[in-house]
Amino acid sequence: MRIYDIIRKKRDKEVLTKEEIDFFVDRYSKGQIPDYQASALLMAIYLNKMNKQETAYLTEAMMNSGEVMDLSAINGVKVDKHSTGGVGDKTTIALAPLMAACGVPVAKMSGRGLGHTGGTLDKLEAIPGFSIEMSSKKFIDSVNDIKIAVCGQTASIAVADKKMYALRDVTATVDNISLIAASIMCKKLASGADAIVLDVKTGDGAFMKTLDDSFALAKEMVEIGTAMNRETIAIISDMDEPLGSAVGNSLEVIEAIEALKGRGPKDFMTLCETLGAYMLVSSKIASDYEDGVRRIKEALESGAALKKFKEFVSNQGGNPEVADDYSLLPEANHIVEIKSDKTGFIDKIEAEAVGVSAMVLGAGRETKEDKLDLSAGIILKKKVGDFVNEGDTLAVMHFNRENKFEDAKRRFKNAYIISEEKAEPKKLIYGVVT
Ligand code: URA
Repeated sequence: MRIYDIIRKKRDKEVLTKEEIDFFVDRYSKGQIPDYQASALLMAIYLNKMNKQETAYLTEAMMNSGEVMDLSAINGVKVDKHSTGGVGDKTTIALAPLMAACGVPVAKMSGRGLGHTGGTLDKLEAIPGFSIEMSSKKFIDSVNDIKIAVCGQTASIAVADKKMYALRDVTATVDNISLIAASIMCKKLASGADAIVLDVKTGDGAFMKTLDDSFALAKEMVEIGTAMNRETIAIISDMDEPLGSAVGNSLEVIEAIEALKGRGPKDFMTLCETLGAYMLVSSKIASDYEDGVRRIKEALESGAALKKFKEFVSNQGGNPEVADDYSLLPEANHIVEIKSDKTGFIDKIEAEAVGVSAMVLGAGRETKEDKLDLSAGIILKKKVGDFVNEGDTLAVMHFNRENKFEDAKRRFKNAYIISEEKAEPKKLIYGVVT
């Protein structure tokens, strides 16, 4: 078999066989296929697409390119949640302890942020002392003992995906449904969960900007998961404006803790409740969605979810007192209000531009090597549908990098579209794919 022939086949819109896909993934992850040929094949796939069977083969080959975790030593049905990423998405930080408090074993591997999107690991590292490094023994013991552990994805998981993602990132081949579905699902499947709940984001700040593409991606991932015998469900949720109010690592940790105290922003609370209820059903703890919602409310109101958060933080070396004293988290030297230049209703807040503005302040990375400022970020004071008078505060920026402030402020202000007419209320959840 020759990689040249595989590239030619895809270039000519032919369907690749399992053997051809396995050959490509295996040889590329071992360094036996050069980047220029892999790039050519990825671009051919990008332009001419893969069918469902090819995508399933690609997912399986990528999953088998590294270690496939065995979590059978953990008692109970392990349910993993995955978000396709967005701006202000701090869901795992609240939802993981909330689920653990409801009895779901949460054995989670998370990632770092890149570009305008944040990553759970960076956010957790804002907590003083918190470590995302742990041996597989400690990971499994922690989930058995306290029902929760969150660590970084080990280098040995889905080795092909790391190489392919890095290549896609620089060859304009990221936003293809088959390539995204295979990249996400190979890691989820290799991480060993019994059931998977996917939060597919849609809108300006998401990979998938349109509802049709978001549903197509959700459907593709659910089909892959189901074919691999994992109960898989996807919800489609809004990422046209940032989720909640906080964007930036330390600020998002505070918002997640507020949610565990029952005081988070409405959209964020609703998302946690929706995803959580489906996770409880998938884990067989809740009899149905409504029972799941009832259990979530109970865990929040009783304080069990907040208590679990403290236990989780402490178990991973962090200072649990952050939950009661936010000043223990990194704080920025400069806190500046951003005022509105106009009077009217907020029609749109372009999530991606807000994410980029926060990144410029230091909350995100433009390249993998960039160093984060965990205290930097933005608190939105107005969301879509709110009324503002000229001079009202739209948001508050937290930063240390003074030389970046004007650029971040300009980008941020351009993200707010203010109109005379009040916009139709937006949906948070657009649908569920099972
Ligand atoms: N997240 C992933 O893990 N892979 C993609 O291709 C896109 C988003």
